Amino acid sequence: MNVIYLDNAATTPIDPRVKEAMLPWLDENYGNPSSVHEAGRKAKVMLEDTRDLFAEFIGVRSSEIYFTSGGTEANNFAIKGSAFYNLGKKDHIITTAIEHSAVLDSAEYLRSRFGFNITYLKTNRFGEIDLKELKDSITDKTFLVSVMHSNNELGVINDVKSIAVSLNNIPVMLHSDMVQSLGKVKLNVSDIGVNFASFSAHKIYGPKGLGVLYIKKDSHVDKFMHGGKQERDRRGGTENIPAIAGFKKAIEILKDEMNADIEKSSGLRNKLISELSSQIGNKMIINSHQDNSPLERGTAKQGGVFIPNIVNISFNPETTKIDPDTLLIKLDMKGIAVSSGSACTSGSVQPSHVLKTIGYDDDTARSSIRISFGRFNNEADIEVLVKGLKEILA
Ligand SMILES: Cc1ncc(COP(=O)(O)O)c(C=O)c1O
Repeated sequence: MNVIYLDNAATTPIDPRVKEAMLPWLDENYGNPSSVHEAGRKAKVMLEDTRDLFAEFIGVRSSEIYFTSGGTEANNFAIKGSAFYNLGKKDHIITTAIEHSAVLDSAEYLRSRFGFNITYLKTNRFGEIDLKELKDSITDKTFLVSVMHSNNELGVINDVKSIAVSLNNIPVMLHSDMVQSLGKVKLNVSDIGVNFASFSAHKIYGPKGLGVLYIKKDSHVDKFMHGGKQERDRRGGTENIPAIAGFKKAIEILKDEMNADIEKSSGLRNKLISELSSQIGNKMIINSHQDNSPLERGTAKQGGVFIPNIVNISFNPETTKIDPDTLLIKLDMKGIAVSSGSACTSGSVQPSHVLKTIGYDDDTARSSIRISFGRFNNEADIEVLVKGLKEILA
């Protein structure tokens, strides 16, 4: 059976060109970039070329790029690293209630084990935080604000640049989880103005197990992964050279094809939303769209800017009695892969913390699915999905 893969926010398939670029680094190019001999130097050159390329792609300096084992480690590094730097000095972190678990659980660990105070900002109906509430939450003990650039369940983009501007002249650092934004919107990280930003390779057709933490020059953060002196003595551990070679290719491809990727996803999103609305509209609520929700209809606020590749829908519990796990299994049996809430929390029956934050009750929040497109999807995939959903709901 041909699988229709619509779970690209969980992970993307490896682009065949990325795989091709990785193979020599799994085979004949096995040198350790810390070694001085030729094999090592060859790996080192590729490593530094990748650093330069990615720095240029996101508009920062090469010396501000640190390779990690993924987005999770990058988030842990920024949050725990800056907390440990501030230990005994400042103890307050502000974040949002809709962050990825790599941020939420790092903050909760710091609270429960070290007594840090954490403020979780609520959001509006779309998943946007309120700038005034953020500023009002700052105390002289606050050292870090962490607000994700785009949310992995809804796709909503928070205006991190405005947050950075509003924090000008306040001695706090700003971290943003940009894992879902890379390749979906043009990012100029220096211009956005954060101290730290997290990225992951496997959301952009690269390999799993590779991420990046951007650390702006002169931003204070303790070393998080102790060991060797790699990454300018800020992150120990032999670099994942095959994955870095894959990431390099993934970025080269994005440089040429990002606009086409965005256009394609936007087209698929528009088609999906219009087909869902016309074919099963009364049974669902679209959560990733600015004016399509019964919760928002009739109110003045038109909000929400979204990355183009995620559509999150909830089924209306009054008109649809379907357990989302059953729905996912039935879709899976038809060869269609989508996700319930965030892949990182699926397997648990808890309603999505994101949907609860934007105002849904437990039943509606629990009945959500996330459809996310990518480079290898096409319009026929959308037609098969909508037909499949219609059959299952009937
Ligand atoms: C917003 C966000 N942050 C962080 C991560 C974690 O990245 P990784 O899987 O590379 O550890 C994910 C992955 O799902 C994500 O969506």
